[in-house]
Amino acid sequence: MAQNTVRQMATPDTEEVRSIIEGLSLPEKMISPKYFYDEAGSRLFDEITRLPEYYPTQTELGIMQQNIDDIAALVGEQASLIEFGSGSSMKTHVLLQNLHSLAAYVPVDISEEHLLASAGALRADYPHIEIIPVVADFTKPFDLPTPAIMPVKNIVYFPGSTIGNFEHEDAKALLEVMYTEAGDGGALLIGVDLQKDVAILERAYNDGAGVTAAFNRNMLTHINREYGSNFDVDAFRHDALYNQDEGRIELRLVAKTAQTVQLGDATIEIDAGEGILTEYSHKYTLEGFKELAASAGFAVERVWTDEDQLFSVQYLVRD
Ligand code: SAH
Ligand code: AVI
Repeated sequence: MAQNTVRQMATPDTEEVRSIIEGLSLPEKMISPKYFYDEAGSRLFDEITRLPEYYPTQTELGIMQQNIDDIAALVGEQASLIEFGSGSSMKTHVLLQNLHSLAAYVPVDISEEHLLASAGALRADYPHIEIIPVVADFTKPFDLPTPAIMPVKNIVYFPGSTIGNFEHEDAKALLEVMYTEAGDGGALLIGVDLQKDVAILERAYNDGAGVTAAFNRNMLTHINREYGSNFDVDAFRHDALYNQDEGRIELRLVAKTAQTVQLGDATIEIDAGEGILTEYSHKYTLEGFKELAASAGFAVERVWTDEDQLFSVQYLVRD
């Protein structure tokens, strides 16, 4: 079968640098979590998914395995499966093994080498499925490829609770993009992490082996390499706390000493003890997520959870 790759990273580096500088010029400095994901960052994320403290991956995988017959019945025949932020497509195996007569699988990710390696491995495992990786930043407009077999419907798949990494308005905007991509008769299958005991949450983002800390710091290594900045990466410590009022984990890199960083034509002063916000990871109630989904035009058709209600997988249809 002819196999394509679609690359749509059209944003010039200067624009990326400008947006990083903008974030570092805010009253609270911040950098988008999308910069976690270079090749090393994607590998570190995979390591996180295997940590005993990081419950979301195994819990979501268990929910998928337990309910795959239900999910397959809802998806039906000859759908195109479009995955946003596919990473290693670890949970996708459950779908690829159980969805019959898929028209195509289209994994979309910003982390090019990792995406292409994952797509190569999937092609070897599923030679009968057309697999078309798309290298794109899904927060910006991008086009989806047309599979060789005309799909009956599009199923957008967004596992991992990556939706939680977006603030309300951005999450709504991303769901609206997915609503459009799903098209008539299409649906969104999404993983959504749930609110729970703070101790469980904070443990998941402060693992004993320090993998999450390395993942957090790698963002600066990535930016130094890609955009020629000079963050002193080792002079930052990892910080992850649950903000109860906002219902989210907040990751920061806190400067242990003052430093002056050059990035593009900007000079950025960072005080000792000052934090850079690198990620939000929102945790939802089922009611709260239903409202967010409705604001983007989706109705929640089915919700599956684990017995401890740690995590949910939800099937949303266009209202
Ligand atoms: N879906 C996988 C991986 C989640 S990690 C899972 O459930 O385990 C988040 C993934 O989204 C990473 O692979 C990262 O590279 C990708 N990603 C993050 N921001 C992105 C963006 N703006 N555009 C495209 N991909 C993005
Ligand atoms: C990808 N995303 C849903 C992960 C999360 O849990 O918010 C990223 C992550 N950050 C630290 N650990 C994992």
